[in-house]
Amino acid sequence: MKKLRVKVPATTANLGAGFDTFGLALTLYNEFEVEEHDGVVIETIPEDPFLQNPENNLFVQVLKYSCEKRGKTFHGAKVRQITNIPVARGLGSSATAIVAGILVSSAVSNVELTDERFFETAYRFEPHPDNLLPAWKGGFITALKAGQKTYYQKVNFPEDLKAVVVVPDFKLSTEEARKVLPEKIPLKDGIFNLQRASLFISALVNGRYDLLKVAMEDRFHQPYRKRLIPAFDDVISAAYDSGAVGASLSGAGPTILALATENFEKIGSFMVEAFRQAGVSAEYMVLDIDREGAKLEIVE
Ligand code: HSE
Repeated sequence: MKKLRVKVPATTANLGAGFDTFGLALTLYNEFEVEEHDGVVIETIPEDPFLQNPENNLFVQVLKYSCEKRGKTFHGAKVRQITNIPVARGLGSSATAIVAGILVSSAVSNVELTDERFFETAYRFEPHPDNLLPAWKGGFITALKAGQKTYYQKVNFPEDLKAVVVVPDFKLSTEEARKVLPEKIPLKDGIFNLQRASLFISALVNGRYDLLKVAMEDRFHQPYRKRLIPAFDDVISAAYDSGAVGASLSGAGPTILALATENFEKIGSFMVEAFRQAGVSAEYMVLDIDREGAKLEIVE
């Protein structure tokens, strides 16, 4: 096997009302370089002893699984992993490892990567197409899983909207953030989200950014998850006060996303300040939308 490199974008899921449905790829990337090797050797940048352990390394686990699925023994790999996406912050960091593992395995085994093959492996590691799909395909995607099949569509995302992501300095696992969700949702809340998610897509298509604030309201997950995120409401208000056109929790959190056409630095600093007032330090990044998704190249 030659040396392969895969670059996979960060993703922000849900975008408010589109819980477990909408996902958007962002221009922040994790990179995975891999070559054949006897035994597993993992170098991580930045240094991360946890990820250097093959048992904890999702990318290696996906390679191993895919290899064994083809009836072969996994002998090892030499991996160099560059992590730019903050871990356990709601920016799809695990999805990048899964997508990278699948792309490498499919390139090595020379089989066409169909949706069916992709999801058969991907869902063993993570059940969220709203992160997996934009990480793989890029852009803004609306997705659903029905039985064994996943249906999805990429929807054009406006060129002039950027994402300001505000990342607080504490981790929140998706598992923890799903535990606080109720089993049942009242019909009126179902209608509330259905109307807003539909409005979100229509507003994007028609360029009506003035509607995004209402369209990104949510009653499925944010009202429950915000208990885990100090100053959630204040950070969302800070986004709107400083000129954002939309704001929501990013995926399962704790990162908060704002969408805007201008004033990006101001929005980021206002949101960081709202976190700071609650005693939480945070950093912001201004990102574009990644439209192409994961990229695999042969290095040598
Ligand atoms: N839609 C999922 C959730 C994304 O919000 O739990 C998890 O990354």
